[in-house]
Amino acid sequence: MIVGVPKEIYPGERRVALTPAVVPLLAKAGLEVVVQAGAGESAGYPDAQYQEKGAKLLPDRATVFSQSDIIVQVLVHGANDKNGAEDLALMRRGLVLIGFLRPLGSAEAVQQIAHTGVTSFSVELMPRTTRAQSMDALSSMASIAGYKAVVVVADTLPRIFPMMTTAAGTITPARVLVIGAGVAGLQAIASAKRLGAVVSAYDVRPAVKEQVQSLGGRFVELPLETGEAQDARGYAKAQDEAFYAKQRELLGNVISESDAVITTAVVPGKKAPILVTEAMVKRMPPGSVILDLAAERGGNAELTRAGETIVAHGVTIIGPINLASGAPYHASQMYARNLTSFLTNLVKDGKVRAPETDEIIRETLLTEGGEVVNARTREILGLPALVTQ
Ligand SMILES: NC(=O)c1ccc[n+]([C@@H]2O[C@H](COP(=O)([O-])OP(=O)(O)OC[C@H]3O[C@@H](n4cnc5c(N)ncnc54)[C@H](O)[C@@H]3O)[C@@H](O)[C@H]2O)c1
Repeated sequence: MIVGVPKEIYPGERRVALTPAVVPLLAKAGLEVVVQAGAGESAGYPDAQYQEKGAKLLPDRATVFSQSDIIVQVLVHGANDKNGAEDLALMRRGLVLIGFLRPLGSAEAVQQIAHTGVTSFSVELMPRTTRAQSMDALSSMASIAGYKAVVVVADTLPRIFPMMTTAAGTITPARVLVIGAGVAGLQAIASAKRLGAVVSAYDVRPAVKEQVQSLGGRFVELPLETGEAQDARGYAKAQDEAFYAKQRELLGNVISESDAVITTAVVPGKKAPILVTEAMVKRMPPGSVILDLAAERGGNAELTRAGETIVAHGVTIIGPINLASGAPYHASQMYARNLTSFLTNLVKDGKVRAPETDEIIRETLLTEGGEVVNARTREILGLPALVTQ
């Protein structure tokens, strides 16, 4: 089977779905790789490296789509809400498409993909099981984003992160608060610690307290009833507005004492909860920085504008989109490994395995034969359940 790698088209996107290093691994599994010329260039993988590893270069996007049995991308239409729709014309019945499709985002985009007849697999739907861990692209990208968030904040803050004792006096370390200590949050805590900041973190799931402490962070305990904070898949559960109001009230003091706040709090399929209000921003020291990793999902800070950096009440509020693309070399390396794991599980003896035979294949399958077939996606997008004959 032929796996095709088109160049990413989302504006500013620098990642690539497969790197040269995985080409031989895929070949061993019977998968031949074709790459659109220049696809890896902005991630630091020139065409020649793909060729050296045995991939074939193709001159344009349409040829990559037409010659491939499987197309792998980073941002597919849906996740690419700018110009991803341009690829709809290249999708065809039976073509296998794998990438970020934002299945719980826009019902319209998901249905447009379904109507092309393409068999699409969404990496966001990966089950959180031990076997699927090596295929978990959400975690890979969250790790990169958590690190990158700290680098951006450190660069924006008018202070330095570490304590310094010098002949010119002693500098106190920056105080960084991380709200939401999942994969991205934990990486942010570790990265901020390495730079010498004093780090506190808070999460609605009490289970993460130990993880925060093991990274050298202080876990902020709020007197909130959080017994039901986590679902069976390890994700946070949505809470009611009264809970979020109480949370804001309790978080206010911690935020006002922080030089930098990195927020990552999200709930799958829901708009991110507002945890940092304008009133809290007013109480922060001048020059403080908020980086809202939930910006794409509506934002954790009331004033966040997705894709923009604003200054309000002397506080810089950064709402990055697609932060993982800012470290494209390693983000692509991790994503390519995730996809390679996924592909070698998906294809056996030159055929795509039937979803019934494997939990990972079944749960990530989003569209097939013209329909959105993923039950959870149908439910969240408000589509009627499919009747199986
Ligand atoms: N294969 C696996 O078993 C596997 C893979 C990846 C992640 N995980 C686990 O799943 C969990 C969730 O990880 P994630 O990073 O994908 O989560 P996520 O991106 O869905 O959310 C980020 C964090 O925000 C927190 N949050 C949500 N609402 C909040 C609120 N109101 N206030 C404060 N915090 C709030 C969540 O609890 C979570 O920790 C983690 O414990 C992670 O270790 C397991």
